[in-house]
Amino acid sequence: MADRRRVADRLPTFPWDRLAPHKATAEAHPDGAVDLSVGTPVDSVPERVREALAAASDSPGYPATYGTPQLRAAAADWLGRCHGVSVDPAAVLPSLGSKEFVAWLPTLLGLGEGDTVVHPELAYPTYDVGIRMSGAAPVASDGLTALGPAPVRLVWVNSPANPTGRVLGVEHLRKVVAWARERGAVVASDECYIGLGWEGGDPVSVLHPDVCGGSHEGLIALHSLSKRSNLAGYRAAFAAGDQALVDELLAVRKHAGMIMPGPVQAAMRAALDDDDHAREQKDRYAARRTALRGALEAAGWRITHSEAGLYLWAAHPEHDAWGSVALLAEHGVLVAPGDFYGPAGAGHVRVAFTATDERVEAAAKRLRALA
Ligand SMILES: Cc1ncc(COP(=O)(O)O)c(C=O)c1O
Repeated sequence: MADRRRVADRLPTFPWDRLAPHKATAEAHPDGAVDLSVGTPVDSVPERVREALAAASDSPGYPATYGTPQLRAAAADWLGRCHGVSVDPAAVLPSLGSKEFVAWLPTLLGLGEGDTVVHPELAYPTYDVGIRMSGAAPVASDGLTALGPAPVRLVWVNSPANPTGRVLGVEHLRKVVAWARERGAVVASDECYIGLGWEGGDPVSVLHPDVCGGSHEGLIALHSLSKRSNLAGYRAAFAAGDQALVDELLAVRKHAGMIMPGPVQAAMRAALDDDDHAREQKDRYAARRTALRGALEAAGWRITHSEAGLYLWAAHPEHDAWGSVALLAEHGVLVAPGDFYGPAGAGHVRVAFTATDERVEAAAKRLRALA
């Protein structure tokens, strides 16, 4: 049998396994572990969203890959209402959470060997994984000037960023868009934390007219309901932007069966139509962020960036990433080492504030005892 070129062989080992011994240490704490490592939502799914899911549960037929017109209209309305972005509902495409879209985008765009894709230097690991799945070459870089001669087909940006919480300003995004347009590269902007700005003004979408000059050509923005509406378990997200790109991706996704379940489409529409629950959720995160930030700073960690999103990017003057992980685990607090997101993160840890109020208070108390 001829050798297969296994996709799995092109991918990195799953980094979270390396955290297991520290997880065991944290779990041995007499008052239980506080897990601030993964960043999964813990608060309830809003009542109206659950009701919409239940009301749509008698759903025997195949849903449309494109989503219902009502879902696409709700996404377009939300972008306009909350982010000053005007898109035609026809230029909206549902996805099964944004992770699958990140992982498959290079492949669905037809990229492969000989193509280069740029992603941020410190980044959510799935950009790199998706690029490798396609066979293209990943380049981790925050600057676009020092890239080699290979043609760049796709540029990922992520603002607010995971893991650093950094927000890219209008000028920065404008430059990325101009650079990519000059070279015919697509800009994919992962905006899954866009509603969670804490300091320095509201994060702006790549589709905002101040950034893109009113044309969405070559641009695709990703939005997720996982964090805004506690829907990580529903797998509810969408992409929007350049109509030609949306049409192209829809054509492939239809063939590939990348279809959001009908009841989830109904639930996602209900979530997009309501801003009250998102405001309440944001207030919960704001209080947790303040408590953890104060406690980490009192215990000697310095917070950089972190002006938006769900994480504090923290460095200790005496400990590298793994030293901080070990020290915090001994006190029952589990965090993620910064090098999970790129070598430049080796001095930092990422501290998620997606734990319950009770667990956040327990972590803050333990951190204060370290001060
Ligand atoms: C930057 C970034 N993009 C995408 C995702 C995926 O989110 P989801 O698949 O839940 O929409 C995450 C999840 O944490 C993330 O941090």
